[in-house]
Amino acid sequence: MLSSNLLLFSLAILIITLLRIPNIAYASLEETNALLEWKSSLQIPRNSLLSSWIPLPMNSSASVQCTSRFGVVCNADWSIHRLNLSSSGFKGTLHQFAFSFLRNLTHFDLSVNNFFGPIPPEIRLLTKLVYLDLSLNKFSGIIPPEIGNLHQLTILYLYSNNISGSIPIELGNLKSLTELEVSNNQLNGSIPSSLGNLDNVQRLILKDNKFSGPIPTELGNLKSLTHLGVSNNQLSGSIPSSLGALTSLVALYMHYNQLSGPIPIQIVNLKSLSDLRMKNNQISGFIPPEFGNSTQLQRLYLSSNHLVGEIPKEFGKMKSMLYLYLSDNQLSGIIPLELQFYEFLEKLDLSGNRLNGSIPKSIGHWAHIHYLNLSNNQLSEKIPSEIGKLGQLTELDLSQNLLTEEIPSENRLSGSNPNAFTSLPSGIDIDLSNNELTGPVPFCSNFVNASLQGNLGLCGNFTGLKFCASPILNKRNDPLHHQLILVIMLPLIGVILLGLYVCGLIVYRKQMIHSPQNPFDEEGGDHFSITNFDGGVVYDDILKATNDFDEAYCIGTGGYGAVYKAELQPNNVVAVKKLHSSSGNGDHNGFLNEVRALTNIRHRNIVKLYGYCSHARHSFLIYEYLEKGSLGSILRSNDLAKDLDWLKRVNIVKTIANGLAYMHHDCSPPIIHRDISIANILLDSDYGAHISDFGTSKLLKLDSSNWTAIAGTYGYISPELAYTMVITEKCDVYSFGVVALELVMGKHPGELIAYLPTLSDDHLVHANVGDSRIPPPSSQSEKQVKIVLSLSRACLNSNPQERPTMHQVSNFLMKA
Ligand SMILES: *[C@@H]1O[C@H](CO)[C@@H](O)[C@H](O)[C@H]1NC(C)=O
Ligand SMILES: *[C@@H]1O[C@H](CO)[C@@H](O)[C@H](O)[C@H]1NC(C)=O
Ligand SMILES: *[C@@H]1O[C@H](CO)[C@@H](O)[C@H](O)[C@H]1NC(C)=O
Ligand SMILES: *[C@@H]1O[C@H](CO)[C@@H](O)[C@H](O)[C@H]1NC(C)=O
Ligand SMILES: *[C@@H]1O[C@H](CO)[C@@H](O)[C@H](O)[C@H]1NC(C)=O
Ligand SMILES: *[C@@H]1O[C@H](CO)[C@@H](O)[C@H](O)[C@H]1NC(C)=O
Ligand SMILES: *[C@@H]1O[C@H](CO)[C@@H](O)[C@H](O)[C@H]1NC(C)=O
Ligand SMILES: *[C@@H]1O[C@H](CO)[C@@H](O)[C@H](O)[C@H]1NC(C)=O
Ligand SMILES: *[C@@H]1O[C@H](CO)[C@@H](O)[C@H](O)[C@H]1NC(C)=O
Ligand SMILES: *[C@@H]1O[C@H](CO)[C@@H](O)[C@H](O)[C@H]1NC(C)=O
Repeated sequence: MLSSNLLLFSLAILIITLLRIPNIAYASLEETNALLEWKSSLQIPRNSLLSSWIPLPMNSSASVQCTSRFGVVCNADWSIHRLNLSSSGFKGTLHQFAFSFLRNLTHFDLSVNNFFGPIPPEIRLLTKLVYLDLSLNKFSGIIPPEIGNLHQLTILYLYSNNISGSIPIELGNLKSLTELEVSNNQLNGSIPSSLGNLDNVQRLILKDNKFSGPIPTELGNLKSLTHLGVSNNQLSGSIPSSLGALTSLVALYMHYNQLSGPIPIQIVNLKSLSDLRMKNNQISGFIPPEFGNSTQLQRLYLSSNHLVGEIPKEFGKMKSMLYLYLSDNQLSGIIPLELQFYEFLEKLDLSGNRLNGSIPKSIGHWAHIHYLNLSNNQLSEKIPSEIGKLGQLTELDLSQNLLTEEIPSENRLSGSNPNAFTSLPSGIDIDLSNNELTGPVPFCSNFVNASLQGNLGLCGNFTGLKFCASPILNKRNDPLHHQLILVIMLPLIGVILLGLYVCGLIVYRKQMIHSPQNPFDEEGGDHFSITNFDGGVVYDDILKATNDFDEAYCIGTGGYGAVYKAELQPNNVVAVKKLHSSSGNGDHNGFLNEVRALTNIRHRNIVKLYGYCSHARHSFLIYEYLEKGSLGSILRSNDLAKDLDWLKRVNIVKTIANGLAYMHHDCSPPIIHRDISIANILLDSDYGAHISDFGTSKLLKLDSSNWTAIAGTYGYISPELAYTMVITEKCDVYSFGVVALELVMGKHPGELIAYLPTLSDDHLVHANVGDSRIPPPSSQSEKQVKIVLSLSRACLNSNPQERPTMHQVSNFLMKA
């Protein structure tokens, strides 16, 4: 009996013990009520884990479980000290949140939900908070300065909300903070210098806001800082050299701001820096050679600034380099051979600079590169066959350079050497457009989708190219066939060459004897040509393409004759300027030498002269064809002029200045245009200006009937020419001034030129001299238009000595 009682008792104890095993603890009544009340204000998705906040059947009032999966954690006294509702799909505000009952909270995480409305100032009551994460919600309003009371806070994440106003200086009191991230909000005002007091902060991320003003020098005090992000704001002023004291800095993001001045050497010398982004600012000056000391640097973004000078040779010492972006600056000189030491390089973008020389063979060392963009430079000579070694390449852009000769391979006859391009990985994106490449395009599937246009000398079975005349490309894999071709072709080529030599000699002699005095010799008379294309373009082709210079193909007339559009092959269009038949009489040899010299000039803002063709019936110059036609025809048409907004107009002025500066200052001897007017400025599809007829006025000077054309176009001629007859570069500067003013006004400035010196730029802007066919400039473009106005005023100075040089004009516009 006793024993059975004992047994029962033991059983009861056991059951009670078993029942206590889960040891479910509940948060205190006050805290529970506070949470439940807030809960009732929220929109909670069905099946939410928050159902664990629903009171248990036993009517326990203290019903918020301390270990519930939705993120309540209690301390030893069953008081809630952590609340984590991250990624729960909740929607609601903090209005009902009873801060005063949850003062024991140390961790509060509401990240990745749909909370909205303000952050209540009562947050100051959570004085034990160590961790506050409200990121990735829709909180709005300001950052309450009261957050500055939370002295224990080590982590403060407010990023990706809709918070506005400025950063309260009180945040500088958070001495324990190690991470402050407020990126991707609407914050504005300046960055408070009090942030320089955050002694322990390692990550300070303020990017993607609207902060303005300078980067405070005090940030240089943050000795623990490893990551500083202020990119995508409206920060201005120079980069404080005090940041050079941030010896722990690993990543510094300052891109997309309006920072100016030079790159401080102190920053470059930061030993631990591995990621430095400064692109899209107004940073100027030279690239410091001290970068060579930054052996940890893996990513360097300096694109879209105003950097000048050469890429320092010391760059080669940055052995860890993965991504190097220097595009869209004004860098000149060659691509340093030293870059070959970039063993790990994955991306290189040097596009949009003024780099010249050849592409170094050492590129073959970049075994891991997958993005290579050298477009928009002045790189010349051959594409090195080492390009074939870049086995990881997925994008290759060499467009808009002066690359010449054949695409590397193509021993074409024996087929023994593998073609450089065929060995590139398949599916790679290739852009070789707008160069001077010649010869057959190698048979390679990668060229099916490649951009190859704008290379008059290329041929092959690819879109946009003419077929190659040579049969050699077919049946390329049959060795017997090759030998056969060799046997047949070699003697044949010899005979043809000999024949050509003899004919050439005869033609040349005749040319020397007969200057083309009698324009209507019989059909099939002599011809002579200098062209840059591989023999494909000859007199007959042009005659065919223009239907014997039919009116229908005429696209304009100038002082020297009419201009025709000739489509020699599909997508291979040239402009042909038919000269008055008597042009170039007298010193024919000298004339041809001049043409030859001009065909060698290559600049993206100067219309290319491909060559000259002379025949007893016609002589003509062959030029690059530009689809948008002349600036004159656009400005004269109300419809077309409407498309020419202020940005385009400013860009046209800039590009004309570039072309003129090149001819005046980078050619030896300098070349003077003598006839700059809106009729001679042609536009490409992107409204980039190309100056046409460079040097032709000089070429044709011997022809007295063209006197007016030599002296220029009425309305654009500098005043001193009338009495000195001495042509200098400053004559072009004057004409440029007229054209620039005409672009702003939409019509020839006429008499305005005379009283220009008495008018201020503001006056001009407000007197509505601007072209009324387009809306007035925005405040951004107004600044640039004013610069154009003041430059054209300087160029129109009646004293040629006082006019700026085109070099000065071009440099000044670069900064606009
Ligand atoms: C739960 O208990 C409280 C008292 O602690 C009481 O007021 C309330 O009515 C009870 N609720 C239910 C559903 O029994
Ligand atoms: C909150 O929970 C998420 C996972 O649900 C976790 O990633 C996060 O670190 C937690 N926050 C805190 C402060 O513990
Ligand atoms: C906070 O915790 C302490 C003990 O750690 C407790 O005495 C106090 O009641 C708690 N405060 C609240 C508001 O629950
Ligand atoms: C952000 O806040 C502003 C007011 O500060 C409001 O007009 C806007 O609609 C909000 N945007 C979103 C996406 O909530
Ligand atoms: C910041 O933005 C607010 C509107 O959100 C505006 O009222 C205030 O003038 C702005 N402050 C600055 C300095 O731009
Ligand atoms: C840093 O680079 C410069 C120029 O390349 C060099 O003269 C200097 O000695 C280097 N300084 C250090 C500390 O390596
Ligand atoms: C190369 O850079 C130019 C800008 O300079 C850009 O327009 C072009 O898209 C880039 N090419 C590729 C393949 O990204
Ligand atoms: C490259 O341009 C510079 C001027 O910037 C000139 O001095 C140099 O001769 C040019 N080099 C080549 C190879 O064209
Ligand atoms: C060319 O591009 C088309 C469309 O993007 C694609 O389907 C095709 O596979 C590409 N061809 C080659 C040879 O890369
Ligand atoms: C050009 O290429 C296409 C497809 O690659 C082929 O069908 C066609 O026969 C080729 N034409 C010539 C003339 O080789």
